[in-house]
Amino acid sequence: MNILIGITGGIAAYKVAILVRLLVKNGHNVKVIMSPMAKHFVTPLTLATLSKNPILVDFYVPENGDWNSHVDIGLWADAYVIAPATANSLAKMANGIADNLLLTTYLSARCPVFFAPTMDLDMFKHPATQKSIETLVNRGNIKIDATSGELASGLEGKGRMAEPETIFQTLVEYFDQNKKLKGKKALVTAGPTYEHIDPVRFIGNYSSGKMGFAIAEELANQGAEVFLVTGTVNLKTQNPNIKRFDVVSAQQMFEKSMEIFPEIDIAVLSAAVADYRPVSIADSKIKKKSDSLTIELEKTPDIAKNLGEIKKENQTIVGFALETDNEFENAVEKLKKKNFDFIVLNSLKDKGAGFNVDTNKITIVHKNSSVQYFELKSKPEVAKDIVEEICKIKPIK
Ligand code: C5P
Repeated sequence: MNILIGITGGIAAYKVAILVRLLVKNGHNVKVIMSPMAKHFVTPLTLATLSKNPILVDFYVPENGDWNSHVDIGLWADAYVIAPATANSLAKMANGIADNLLLTTYLSARCPVFFAPTMDLDMFKHPATQKSIETLVNRGNIKIDATSGELASGLEGKGRMAEPETIFQTLVEYFDQNKKLKGKKALVTAGPTYEHIDPVRFIGNYSSGKMGFAIAEELANQGAEVFLVTGTVNLKTQNPNIKRFDVVSAQQMFEKSMEIFPEIDIAVLSAAVADYRPVSIADSKIKKKSDSLTIELEKTPDIAKNLGEIKKENQTIVGFALETDNEFENAVEKLKKKNFDFIVLNSLKDKGAGFNVDTNKITIVHKNSSVQYFELKSKPEVAKDIVEEICKIKPIK
């Protein structure tokens, strides 16, 4: 997930370094915004190193003449965690005062906002602070309450920031509860298939598997148990809820997918499966003898079509189509023939879409013929769009 951390000027700021580390270690992308005061309590270098991202403080970036857009940062975030949240920042958040990047981003963020109040006990008890906290909670922001104990001032009382582990756990529990595919099982096919000609040669294609792997990650992020059947790719999975099966040929991908499918709620078939394979595979390397060589090919099993035939009412299948011409008509025909719930169409005509690139531009065509067009996006973002559509399908709700 994309977690945005907002650090305001309190002594507990140093502890946020541990929170950043915990989040990164658990596979999340972390960006940090600091209020100008926060820089006095913990160095931006520490946080930049731990988060693996530049620290955001000002709107204007003098080094490259660029500016930090609070709107883009807000849209990027799946969660915004303001810790420590000082009395001053809480009051400004409650009243919509936006005089630094951290606060403007608070106003523009669409994601859930968490805040961990931290201050001296009398400031914490003050009706003004309590009113700010109440306003934020009533607005739907999630309070990670302060604890009691010894404070930086030497006084004892309530006002200590919740420990980084507690903040981390609050986030984990919140997103666990809100996972849309909890308890669901998903099959994803990804990558190319290689059809051997002889021990050293094969018929293959340029599929990198990046789209399928991004979908597997997103399904797992939404709580599904994922079975990823992949052809030969140079990729790793991150989410521990993804069980990976490496296969080489269309036949192996077919057998593994058929074995897994009966237990599955959702199947996303993004693999670029070879349509034909050599009728026979030579036992030893074919020698360069004659001027021409003919290899007889036969059809491979159509995994999608076979799964479509045994698909039950409560199962969802999503297919892909990469077309060079007559894309729309061909996609609709495939959708019907293979019994898909929807088909994701990517055209080789679109710049930045298709094989071996990090971006994709898709069109989704539904069973009822409705069509949705999407912008060019990174493959993980495209995966989010696809999984969001899957979550809207009736049996999955
Ligand atoms: O290759 P084609 O354009 O027909 O692929 C459309 C869809 O069918 C894709 O989702 C692809 O993964 C799937 N497919 C398959 N087995 C095949 C061929 C295609 O699962 N042999």
